[in-house]
Amino acid sequence: MVHIPSPSRYLTMVYNYCGNSGLKLPAISLGLWHNFGGVDSFENAKEMILSAFDAGITHFDLANNYGPPPGSAEENFGKILAAHLKPYRDEIIVSTKAGYKMWEGPYGEWGSRKYMLSSLDQSLKRLKLDYVDIFYSHRPDPETPLEETMGALDQAVRQGKALYAGISNYKPDQTKRASEILRKLGTPCILHQPKYSMFERWVEPDLLAVLEKEGIGLIAFSPLAQGLLTDRYLKGIPDGSRASKAHGFLKKNDITPEKLVKIAALNELAKKRGQSLAQMAIAWLLKDKRVTSVLVGASSVGQLKTNLATLDKLDFTPYELQEIEEVLK
Ligand SMILES: NC(=O)c1ccc[n+]([C@@H]2O[C@H](COP(=O)([O-])OP(=O)(O)OC[C@H]3O[C@@H](n4cnc5c(N)ncnc54)[C@H](OP(=O)(O)O)[C@@H]3O)[C@@H](O)[C@H]2O)c1
Repeated sequence: MVHIPSPSRYLTMVYNYCGNSGLKLPAISLGLWHNFGGVDSFENAKEMILSAFDAGITHFDLANNYGPPPGSAEENFGKILAAHLKPYRDEIIVSTKAGYKMWEGPYGEWGSRKYMLSSLDQSLKRLKLDYVDIFYSHRPDPETPLEETMGALDQAVRQGKALYAGISNYKPDQTKRASEILRKLGTPCILHQPKYSMFERWVEPDLLAVLEKEGIGLIAFSPLAQGLLTDRYLKGIPDGSRASKAHGFLKKNDITPEKLVKIAALNELAKKRGQSLAQMAIAWLLKDKRVTSVLVGASSVGQLKTNLATLDKLDFTPYELQEIEEVLK
């Protein structure tokens, strides 16, 4: 049944331009890495996607390998889109990526033209789409010339199978080179997707400046450090949480006593702001105007709604920022 979306879906969301491009993304986007695969509840996945769209989240982020099993998140999203959101395709930005292992043999991962373009064709079939909006190189390939990987992104755009090109997990110097190559090809890189959160600040020393100079937007992945920057683990590891699942990428031993001390202190600071820790962690990323979007994950509609309410309070006083720095030191 076609979904009837909320008529107020565009009233509260903030939309930011991706670098120098003409594409706007919602300040909060939804990622389908966990909780949308074949092992997860299809009904819950559907509810999250529809309520995200109702709240103005126009951007859904995928990759060939999301699941498990790999490919199943694209399949599920394709089914949901076809059954419930088909009339709204032009209101939606779908991204996918190629870079990690998808099939056996020498052409099943990394950055060759052969792999990148075959993978995109497979993704389009799973998604039941003619094109994706953004196609990313998921990780830099140390063996393949960067010209070839970027050439594959350019070719995907010229074939009409993607509208824009992006890169993910590229270091500052690789980003600069990738951007130069793509610009020469006439398909500018519009978006970089790095890991960025209060706990993962590798982008700050150099990458942010490169992105600004090159006119590339930043979409931050794992902004909640996979759930650590929330109240989820304050009283142990709850059943059903990412850290409790065998296939979850957050491991029990990532939740160290030192991290828990910081999380508890941050949680108190968030309370003083009248926010949850998840909300403070998202707002903290959005305070930098170079951050186009924060790419959250969620396992329930409730979490998504909490995260969306971040938009009610985005500003920080210098004192609050200082207090956060003290905790993160
Ligand atoms: N480019 C790349 O290499 C790369 C790598 C990783 C991720 N990504 C992208 O980034 C997206 C987000 O990554 P992520 O899922 O790691 O993001 P995240 O937002 O850091 O973590 C999401 C997890 O945090 C917990 N959570 C979310 N909101 C919460 C709330 N309000 N209260 C309590 N817990 C909450 C949930 O964990 P529970 O499941 O425990 O409830 C949820 O699954 C991915 O889906 C993917 O699209 C890209």
